[in-house]
Amino acid sequence: MAEGQPAETARAVAARCTTLAELKDALAGFEGCPLRYTAKNLVFADGNPEARLMLIGEAPGRDEDLQGLPFVGRAGQLLDRMLAAIGLDRTSVYIINTLPWRPPGNRTPTPAEHAVCMPFLKRHDELVHPEMLVLLGGVSAKQMLRTDTGIMRLRGKWASVRAGDKEFPALPTLHPAYLLRQPAQKRLAWRDLLSLKAKLEG
Ligand code: URA
Repeated sequence: MAEGQPAETARAVAARCTTLAELKDALAGFEGCPLRYTAKNLVFADGNPEARLMLIGEAPGRDEDLQGLPFVGRAGQLLDRMLAAIGLDRTSVYIINTLPWRPPGNRTPTPAEHAVCMPFLKRHDELVHPEMLVLLGGVSAKQMLRTDTGIMRLRGKWASVRAGDKEFPALPTLHPAYLLRQPAQKRLAWRDLLSLKAKLEG
């Protein structure tokens, strides 16, 4: 993974933040990620920071960039329906992305972009300290679990994400945007949702 000076600066800046408001301000003022110059808005988070569950998506798309909120487009509407199916909504989850700025034209984020944003993401996890994470899609799963294994092999299997001195149980699952393109795969996502529900109730 590409590392370098901006990533080191990001680590130092993120480590100094002791509240979510500080982290948001720090990201808003951080100049080390080129995505900020093409994005319209910082997409920090949505939902309830006190929630037991944190969802981590890939990166903001066009609608999210315009509104400054994660998962507000078509994929977000499907995500809301998936959550509703197991009795959750945005008051009972907290939602972020691996990147807080939209990559131009929704292109795949580069390793350098991920490396520079990762300290903020890890600090975000630490400050919220949810009971568990759901990793939405292959990009999120690969970044958070530091693996090259594909989402089809990772999905549905509880793993563990480390942030600071904390470990978070994490469930990789299929991304709602993928499910919009491949609706037949919703049965797999449904299995994952039931596993999540069981863990929340267990
Ligand atoms: N896809 C994502 O991964 N995140 C969003 O916020 C929207 C679409």
